Amino acid sequence: MAFTFFFRDKYTLELLAQHIIPDLKRRRYINIWDAGCAMGPEPYSLAIMLRENMTHFLFRNVKIYATDIDENGQFGKIIAHGIYPEVRIKRIPPALLSKYFSPALPPEDAVYPMTQTANYFQVSEELKRAIRFQQHDLLSLKPVREEFALIVCKNVLLHFKPEERARVVRMFHSALAQGGYFVTEQTQKLPDETQRLFQPVTSAGQLFQKV
Ligand SMILES: C[S@@+](CC[C@H](N)C(=O)[O-])C[C@H]1O[C@@H](n2cnc3c(N)ncnc32)[C@H](O)[C@@H]1O
Repeated sequence: MAFTFFFRDKYTLELLAQHIIPDLKRRRYINIWDAGCAMGPEPYSLAIMLRENMTHFLFRNVKIYATDIDENGQFGKIIAHGIYPEVRIKRIPPALLSKYFSPALPPEDAVYPMTQTANYFQVSEELKRAIRFQQHDLLSLKPVREEFALIVCKNVLLHFKPEERARVVRMFHSALAQGGYFVTEQTQKLPDETQRLFQPVTSAGQLFQKV
């Protein structure tokens, strides 16, 4: 269930940079919820896209609340270290890899599922400072906070029953600030009963704005 890697669904990240980040930059505080973040490649990929499209000064206003049910209690440590095996980072464009990562030793206190490699890389301190991990069950239907500018939930909703999916998307809607955005994976449609809560940002992907 925790299958994940950096720059997964790169096309959606590009749509986000094109259609949503310019609007996020107008906000004083850029609070983002990455729901079902697994061990961190997704929130760190988001952080890279944001940093690539804003100044160091503006990026200091970005706070990514990365949450996951994290059944084995491992993701918090991995995200705090920001150290990843080579297999998870191979989709990162080389220019971004050299800009945001440096070679590292694997931390002794973190377990990386599905990993057989000697090579590890660590994300920059600037990216690490933007991300805060919290263990959280989406089916509790309690948002981790309110007034999010953006909520990203990819490759998670498909694991829920249709009625659970609709409840979770409604909860996301209530946790968004006015005009905030919700982004999910290309193959995930908005549940019918939540369609009226959002307007599509582009016909090219599953990016929505709260109405
Ligand atoms: C396939 S991974 C997707 C990770 C990442 N979003 C991505 O697209 O690469 C699904 C994640 O959803 C998490 N998850 C499953 N049920 C959850 C729940 N009820 N609340 C929060 N997270 C959950 C799993 O622990 C897992 O890390």
